[in-house]
Amino acid sequence: MRPVVTVLGGSGYIGRTLIVRLVRAGCAVRLLTRSREHTRPLWVLPNLDVRELDRYDFSQLAMAFAGSAAVINLVGIIRETQRQTFVRAHVLLSQDVVAACAKAGVTRLLHMSALNADPEGPSDYLRSKSDGETAVRTSKLHWTIFQPSVVFGPDDAFLNVFARLLPRVPLLMAPSAQTRFQPVYVGDVAEAFCRALSLPSAIGKTFPLGGPCVYRLDELLRWLGKTMGSPRPILSTPTALAPLQAWLLEHLPGHLMTRDQLLSMQKDSVCPDGRASALIELGITPTALEDVAPRWLRP
Ligand SMILES: NC(=O)c1ccc[n+]([C@@H]2O[C@H](COP(=O)([O-])OP(=O)(O)OC[C@H]3O[C@@H](n4cnc5c(N)ncnc54)[C@H](OP(=O)(O)O)[C@@H]3O)[C@@H](O)[C@H]2O)c1
Repeated sequence: MRPVVTVLGGSGYIGRTLIVRLVRAGCAVRLLTRSREHTRPLWVLPNLDVRELDRYDFSQLAMAFAGSAAVINLVGIIRETQRQTFVRAHVLLSQDVVAACAKAGVTRLLHMSALNADPEGPSDYLRSKSDGETAVRTSKLHWTIFQPSVVFGPDDAFLNVFARLLPRVPLLMAPSAQTRFQPVYVGDVAEAFCRALSLPSAIGKTFPLGGPCVYRLDELLRWLGKTMGSPRPILSTPTALAPLQAWLLEHLPGHLMTRDQLLSMQKDSVCPDGRASALIELGITPTALEDVAPRWLRP
């Protein structure tokens, strides 16, 4: 019998890679989604059971968890709307997931948070991610928490956004251009989840996930421009103007950035030791941005 791993938020960018890995690793995956249509790219996979549900309905959640060897919660948002708040998606849902695991008799929970999640963090996103972690950490479950820095990959909403923008502009004004990031490859993040599932030593641990190198945002953007064949001057938006720029980007189509994201960027998104120690501890060789990203960042 294949172990059933139930995933929430698996139709998204990181989830799609993780689900492929889980299936390859021999799991039967139960994917819970708001809409089957969101999961279309995954329909070709064997041993995948897609179930539509209202994940804010506790009884539906507990029923959907029944019989699972583990639950993985990847749900996260970066932009609040009137209907969807950070508290609802990151805190209340995490509390419900914990309670639904207990009700359904599931003991193993893998929870996705973010680097710099902190009750005193600079942004609502980071504070709510921290409250979500607290719900998990204070439970009696066998939990593991992951805190990635920015996650890069062929479909990411970070480098690819700038990659589309750079060829179209004469120069780029970047807010918080001096902020440092430790981009981690989406395949490595997915692999970290897969390995942690079968590692008893991962229980009760929080893994900050970063790649092998740390870059300032302006360095990353210069590298990106060069790699894309569109080198552009990268200027730092004056601190006083950055909130206005973020407000504009938040309200333009595509929502390239939000004011809350700008607040998150007040803090470097770098693992505590500045190294990819968690990936190495999980037996994963960290993938360098320069080794894989040029494959999809073609001019
Ligand atoms: N991408 C990064 O660089 C990064 C960095 C650090 C942490 N993280 C965390 O990693 C997780 C996955 O990130 P991702 O980039 O893969 O995100 P994503 O592509 O936006 O996917 C997130 C998933 O969450 C669910 N979701 C989205 N909005 C929702 C809402 N309003 N209510 C309920 N569910 C909703 C969706 O599932 P359905 O549509 O199937 O319902 C979606 O598949 C998130 O928790 C995020 O905070 C990401």
